[in-house]
Amino acid sequence: MKLLVTGGAGFIGSNYVAHRLAAELGDRIVVLDKLTYAGRRENLAGLPDERLSFVEGDICDRELVGRLVGQCDAVVNFAAESHVDRSIESPDSFITTDVFGTFVMLEAARDAGVRHLQISTDEVYGSIGEGSFTEASPLDPSSPYSASKAGGDLLVSAFRHTWGTDSLIVRASNNYGPRQHPEKLIPLVLLNALHGDPIPVYGDGAQVRNWLFVTDFCRAIDAVLEHGGTGEVYNVGGPDEPSNLEVVREILEIAGADESLIEFVGDRPGHDRRYSMDSTRTEGLGWKAEVSFAEGIRETVEWYLKNRDWWEPLRSGEYREYYERQYGRKLG
Ligand code: NAD
Ligand code: TYD
Repeated sequence: MKLLVTGGAGFIGSNYVAHRLAAELGDRIVVLDKLTYAGRRENLAGLPDERLSFVEGDICDRELVGRLVGQCDAVVNFAAESHVDRSIESPDSFITTDVFGTFVMLEAARDAGVRHLQISTDEVYGSIGEGSFTEASPLDPSSPYSASKAGGDLLVSAFRHTWGTDSLIVRASNNYGPRQHPEKLIPLVLLNALHGDPIPVYGDGAQVRNWLFVTDFCRAIDAVLEHGGTGEVYNVGGPDEPSNLEVVREILEIAGADESLIEFVGDRPGHDRRYSMDSTRTEGLGWKAEVSFAEGIRETVEWYLKNRDWWEPLRSGEYREYYERQYGRKLG
């Protein structure tokens, strides 16, 4: 299969490309990535060049997207602006990439007659008090990020209904693992702990996320891409639901850092309290989450400890400026 993977230089996309190439299926992969602050060419280093090609470009570029999709058998659309806090600070690029960019990808897939797999998120359902989201749960997004992802999802189903396209959606819970940008909770906590910096916990820290190790998600994407029914949505959640404070404490313990680093700061506006996914439909495709949070977090911490060269440069420049804007006034 020749796959077009958009956003393949980001966190989940790069893990998926590596996973797919390691599977020896004989795939060829074309990565299309704009290389925003979140995308890095080096995330694809060491992968077999003869089966991987990289194109720097924007999923909003119709001419480029049309040409690349026309050369492939299927598209996996990871490309997105992905961080909730940045969407609150500055939503424009979220609307452009996550909504309009998805529309451009869908048009190209329709014209080429190829399968389009949209990578989406549990955040489109909003927050849930008890129980878990199924694929029939109503969309009720809270942040500009989740609203723009929901907009992309609605376009996917509109294309399916109107033009009968071979489009489907996979919605995942919070991923973690190697190569996640330090703006997200887990790497942020670890890297701050390693530097003895304060750790910002929003609100009371009792919010719950359904953490999913990234390789478990990669296997779920394969299952949906290869066996998913056209027009369907598939929820994918992790096996555990620790609170944010439990996550922070576990990382501090593994890193041998002191809990006194924890600093409770003002809550994120519109902060979703709890996400939880019912993955029964995806399990029906033969998939199951295999990595517990206790195992996955140890593997993740180990990766960051061994790969300082990957994250040290990220702590200066653009990320430092963002960090100052986001946390400068909040942290004592
Ligand atoms: P990320 O921010 O690490 O990576 C996004 C990638 O997309 C980057 O390489 C970036 O350069 C690229 N990109 C951004 N705008 C682009 C554009 N206009 N054209 C081409 N490329 C562009 O994000 P991630 O965490 O790897 O998330 C990947 C996908 O998975 C996203 O669609 C996200 O909504 C979804 N998702 C993420 C999570 C999570 O916990 N990280 C959970 C569920 C779903
Ligand atoms: P995050 O990694 O941003 O993912 P998402 O917002 O998509 O769930 O945040 C995970 C949880 O951690 C979320 O409840 C917000 C919280 N959080 C903090 O308490 N402090 C932080 O500095 C960050 C980045 C997140």
